[in-house]
Amino acid sequence: MYRIAVLISGSGSNLQALIDKIESGYLDCTIECVISDKKDVFGLKRAEEHGIKTFVLERKEYVRGLSEVIYEIVRGKVDLIVLAGFLSILDGDILKGFRNRIINIHPSLIPSFCGIGMYGIKVHEAAVKSGVKISGCTVHFVDEGTDTGPIILQKTVPVYYEDDACALQLRVLEQEHRALPEAVKLLSEGRVNILHNRVQISGWEDIDD
Ligand code: GAR
Repeated sequence: MYRIAVLISGSGSNLQALIDKIESGYLDCTIECVISDKKDVFGLKRAEEHGIKTFVLERKEYVRGLSEVIYEIVRGKVDLIVLAGFLSILDGDILKGFRNRIINIHPSLIPSFCGIGMYGIKVHEAAVKSGVKISGCTVHFVDEGTDTGPIILQKTVPVYYEDDACALQLRVLEQEHRALPEAVKLLSEGRVNILHNRVQISGWEDIDD
């Protein structure tokens, strides 16, 4: 069975999408644990309601060493680490130990509106302000940079003149909830290859939710 750890910092709606897709049978994997860098977030409740083991590692208590503690928890126990709205930056040995086995969901079409300081609503504020007509979400591998790893898949949404950041956020979030389970499915089925920093997917046409 393909085992994943899900890292969160907030409401955990992407975590919920994974839980739902496991329960529906779309995903053949288990969530071994949920790790949050903030206490009392709703995502932790979602995990507990589904009997998933949780860890709270408050960022302020682990100014240095958060990644090391996470590595200790997941090492040898999971096949994939999923950053689902996790706002701390992973660094150090975990990036080597889990090379090409950590993925992140970002709420824009990378390489637009991403990088240091670009997260959550700020991403959508920047997208609306820029006047782009299309936005979306990206699932990508995590490497030493911020939002720089190979892109696994992207989904797009229209941006309307009338949109504010919140309206766009909701539209993108709907697509995130499709994209993240799809990416996990592709990885769990061994259908993702990285060639020269680009992702090649085999049997892409079979993917459907
Ligand atoms: C999601 O929109 C996710 O893409 C974003 O945080 C939100 C978490 O929502 N992540 C980033 O901005 C990372 N750069 P959720 O807690 O409801 O899944």
